[in-house]
Amino acid sequence: MKNHTPKKEALRIYRLFYPQIAVIVASRRADQVEALAMNSVISGSSDPPRVVCSLKREAKILAAVRESKSFSMNWMDSRYVKSVDFLGFQRAGKPRDMIEAAGLTWRPGSKTSAPVVSEAAAALECTVDRVIPLGDNDLVIGNVVSARTSRDFSDYWQFKTYNPLIYFGAVPGKKVGRYVLFKRRGQGLVGAPRTSS
Ligand SMILES: Cc1cc2nc3c(=O)[nH]c(=O)nc-3n(C[C@H](O)[C@H](O)[C@H](O)COP(=O)(O)O)c2cc1C
Repeated sequence: MKNHTPKKEALRIYRLFYPQIAVIVASRRADQVEALAMNSVISGSSDPPRVVCSLKREAKILAAVRESKSFSMNWMDSRYVKSVDFLGFQRAGKPRDMIEAAGLTWRPGSKTSAPVVSEAAAALECTVDRVIPLGDNDLVIGNVVSARTSRDFSDYWQFKTYNPLIYFGAVPGKKVGRYVLFKRRGQGLVGAPRTSS
């Protein structure tokens, strides 16, 4: 085992958890539609079905999640890399509808007010069970109240039409938070395409 400075070590430990699938988490309060790219999501419990999202404290979506007590989790195919990349970085100026601004569409959930991304390969609708402050992130625990999957998913993903967007984290030595790596069909590891911000 090599020795590292604490900061370097923390970054390396964080990267041990990669690669991960990138999803979009979305919520809505009044006419403000919030959405962000996320990889820190897990299935927390199967019975009852619960998911866990690790959201940084300052994430704008948290206010909508707390107020509406609902959110959606959307699995995106790699062809939507630009949209996910757009939703993965803070930017000046705040669109009223982040999903639309990312070039995607949505419809209201069947059981909650959460916006569900129409282009998603699978989507869960969740009510908020609780929010647990953890450190620089809050853990949002959601009760899954509805699930929609594309035909590619039966008991497992078949990967015939769904090609997951695999996130490798920030590139070492580059400005953290802007340079990320995704794996795309037929292209191997690629940097996220530039999006206008
Ligand atoms: C692929 C990807 C995965 C991300 N995963 C998370 C995550 O799990 N939790 C988190 O708080 N931020 C995550 N981020 C960063 C947020 O998406 C980003 O900070 C976003 O701009 C926050 O939205 P806001 O500006 O509306 O607060 C991720 C970014 C990318 C590109």
